[in-house]
Amino acid sequence: MQKLIIKGKRNLIGKISISGSKNSALPILAASILANKVILKNIPLVKDIFTMAELLNFIGLNTKFLLNKNILEIKNKEKKINTLAPYKLVKTMRAGVLVLGPLLGKYGKAKVSLPGGCAIGTRPVNLHLFALKKLGANIKIKNGYILAEAKSGLKGTTIKFPNVSVGATENALLAAFMAKGKTVLKNCATEPEINDLISFLNKLGGQIKLSGRTAIINGKNEIKKQLIKHEIIFDRIEAGTYMIASALIGKKVTIDKIDPRIIKTEINILKKMGVKIKKNNNSISLKKNVNLKKINITTKPYPGFPTDLQAQLMVLMTQANGLSKISENIFENRFMHVPELRRMGAKIKIKNKTAFIKGPSKLAGAEVMATDLRASVSLVLAGLIAENKTVINRIYHLDRGYEFLETKLKRCNAEIVRI
Ligand code: UD1
Repeated sequence: MQKLIIKGKRNLIGKISISGSKNSALPILAASILANKVILKNIPLVKDIFTMAELLNFIGLNTKFLLNKNILEIKNKEKKINTLAPYKLVKTMRAGVLVLGPLLGKYGKAKVSLPGGCAIGTRPVNLHLFALKKLGANIKIKNGYILAEAKSGLKGTTIKFPNVSVGATENALLAAFMAKGKTVLKNCATEPEINDLISFLNKLGGQIKLSGRTAIINGKNEIKKQLIKHEIIFDRIEAGTYMIASALIGKKVTIDKIDPRIIKTEINILKKMGVKIKKNNNSISLKKNVNLKKINITTKPYPGFPTDLQAQLMVLMTQANGLSKISENIFENRFMHVPELRRMGAKIKIKNKTAFIKGPSKLAGAEVMATDLRASVSLVLAGLIAENKTVINRIYHLDRGYEFLETKLKRCNAEIVRI
């Protein structure tokens, strides 16, 4: 099993280019089931994307990566379509459940494995199924699979989500794209990745508008037969991760290929903590501040502070003066990095949904275990500022979502190797 070894305390200096967003690419790959031929640019070459491509191949599409250009070509020749997403592909990557909406909308049926829980929580799909049922699907759960059918097609309607869910909003948009009549989705997620999906679907012939938390999907859409080209937006979580790395130990780091307007919340929080940030059109520059201020944050749906950056921000809080607080409002079990950070010397206490972080504390290298994608990268950040050597085990979690992590950090002077 591979490990990362980091020798800490080396200042970061240089430029980090941000990759395409995994969380944007995944639903757009699922949406490609609706199209004939698609070319996606700025595809991040990470494990979850390869798994989603494998799932599309299993369904009967053809996928071809141009690896050196970060391009993915997808063709749907409509031959031998298999409306099935098997357990072996959905269990490692929950976003596999996003093929449910397009398969059901286009082919009238789908059998998709229930993704089950994961380290950060139970992660149910009840809201996905709630929306599909409202659109007229008949849904049963049998032997761990979702069996969905809409023999005479889906029908547009008004759906109000009881809670905001990124995945359920995406699945509902993907299904409603093919529904007859108008669909109104209320209380939608409004993450930038949702907007990217809508912009892709509109290129495909959709008439979808999102204003506030309401999406209106107009009429039955004629799918355009011609080639659809789309460039995936930047990964705002990757950008936030490197912003925090720079705030921790950057001499001067420029983070480019981003749109600072999309990450206003993150920029403002770092500024409040005392980090000096210079914004340009497509990049920001920042460096370490030795006198960081404490802060309290609560994770929320966009435009609030993202749960996917909570573990990374916690590492920055270990270096701030005083008692900082993080309340995790999205997932029930997302503090699994805490015991590992404590082993490195962090002073963190957890009470219910809130973590209390006392800083500043000196971190010391240790052998630690990654538990999920974002938790693992928080250990990398801790390793970058710790005395001596940090060894991170189970880094397959990292490979699910961070493209060229070691290369990007090494180029900025970090000492990090994979063995
Ligand atoms: C997506 C992101 C993930 C991010 C999360 C929240 C992708 C591939 N993943 O995950 O990185 O952490 O958004 O920003 O884009 N819920 C239900 N029932 C449902 C669906 C969700 O109760 O049917 C709950 C979840 O358990 C969670 C909350 O709603 O507590 C938000 O989850 P959701 O927004 O759906 O997250 P994902 O789409 O799974």
